[in-house]
Amino acid sequence: MRAPCTRASSPSSLPWFGVTAIGGSPAAALDATLQDSAEAGLPSIAVTPNQGKLLWLLARVQGARAILELGTLGGYSTIWLARALPVGGRLVTLEAEAEYAEIARANIARAGLAQTVELHVGPALQTLPQLLAEGAGPFDLIFIDADKKNNPGYFEWSLKLSRPGTLIIVDNVVRDSAILDPDADDPTLGNEGIRGVRHFFEKLAAEQGVDATAIQTVGSKGYDGFALAIVSG
Ligand code: SAH
Ligand code: DHB
Ligand code: MG
Repeated sequence: MRAPCTRASSPSSLPWFGVTAIGGSPAAALDATLQDSAEAGLPSIAVTPNQGKLLWLLARVQGARAILELGTLGGYSTIWLARALPVGGRLVTLEAEAEYAEIARANIARAGLAQTVELHVGPALQTLPQLLAEGAGPFDLIFIDADKKNNPGYFEWSLKLSRPGTLIIVDNVVRDSAILDPDADDPTLGNEGIRGVRHFFEKLAAEQGVDATAIQTVGSKGYDGFALAIVSG
């Protein structure tokens, strides 16, 4: 059963969660990305503005020069993360759906990031071995936000594409506390997604080579969370 407190109030009714950028980060290209994604019929499952800003901050704190993202959708989180890169930095993002990738490409180009972002279309579990074989890594920051059932596999590949000090961030690890219940049927992730996230947490806990925690994020899409793991060796 889910904790009753998660139902107490609608986070979107709290005005400050609508704030896109507290200090810096021009919002126009980000707002246009969400608008065009919605008009193209993409699902409204991008990170919220405050989560995007947290990704940006974490990438800045990390001093990331090479970022890998799994799950591009319309490119909203991609743009937040790519904006944190220094000149000469690069971001590789993986998306299974060709139609989503097409929208993302246009959004990324409008944000002035076409030269910074490399988008690969195809199932991430097929692209990840190719990236490793090409010597694309190691990445300084990896954001895992694709299909949740494959999170355990994505975590394994992320470790292969890491160096000591790499920051791995995983989205959607709280799901309004549904993650506590192995039988939960999340409205969009399904039970398969919930089990994927839980299995990922088991692997994370068992993995000697990372130090990790999870934080709750709350925003216009309710209560969810990021897992944060730093590769130790
Ligand atoms: N990171 C985005 C949201 C991603 S939503 C943002 O916050 O803006 C999850 C995305 O993962 C969807 O676009 C979905 O098509 C993609 N996806 C699903 N299965 C995938 C797979 N096997 N490989 C790569 N991407 C996948
Ligand atoms: C949903 C949200 C996400 O951030 C995601 O990556 C996938 C699905 C959702 O709310 O359904
Ligand atoms: Mg997500």
